[in-house]
Amino acid sequence: MIQILYYPEVSSTMDTAKELARKDCPDFTVIVAGRQTRGRGRLKRQWLSDDGGLYFTMVLRPDIPVLLSSRLNFLASLTLARVIREMFQIEAAVKWPNDILVDGHKISGMLSELEAETDRILFINIGMGINVNNDPSEVEPGASSLKKIIGREISKKMLLTRFLAEFEGHTKRADFENVISEWKRYTVTLNRRVKIVTHKEVSEGLAVDVEQDGALILELGDGTRKKIVYGDCFHQGECFESQ
Ligand code: BTN
Repeated sequence: MIQILYYPEVSSTMDTAKELARKDCPDFTVIVAGRQTRGRGRLKRQWLSDDGGLYFTMVLRPDIPVLLSSRLNFLASLTLARVIREMFQIEAAVKWPNDILVDGHKISGMLSELEAETDRILFINIGMGINVNNDPSEVEPGASSLKKIIGREISKKMLLTRFLAEFEGHTKRADFENVISEWKRYTVTLNRRVKIVTHKEVSEGLAVDVEQDGALILELGDGTRKKIVYGDCFHQGECFESQ
């Protein structure tokens, strides 16, 4: 059963979720915030969290091996892309690893945190930030929002309810086998030149595949292949600013 806890303002739903998870809150507790004062993005970036956006973290306690945990992230981004397509008839796509883009503009990002004991997942917290009725593009030129794209206000409640129902349905049916192959049908990252930036290095090449563990395979200039497990992904020819 999904339990939703709403807070008008928190520092970050990731922090609230971690606190509750460590206090044994049930599987599928969802922390939703009206705004965040210290919203966090991937790779220690800040996530703008003004009124109008949808910010939530799901506390999940799946009974799957730690090695498969990243598939939940891919399942969440895939589900969100599908829900947005169905609700608003727009071409939402996934960018590796878990961003949602519409026409090359980022409308959603995801952050996940996991705690495990040997090979048992204690919890995996998946936080999603969706630009719904806010306008991040003034500060982040590469970003947009559903309201800007569709031209009207959108009910955050309807979007969240629909997303959670679909996502929970998939996790309960343990649809994990086909997650990556399904995800590939919705991605705009494969078969294009990309640049991957980490704290340590920059790699450029053709994105040729995503493996079952979620790693991106790049074909480098000399024809060799490189497995990328994390990093910021920039599509060539796209605005390189990212939220
Ligand atoms: C990214 O693209 O860098 C990931 C952004 C994740 C933002 C969400 S908003 C809800 C949750 N709380 C946070 O502080 N971050 C995630």
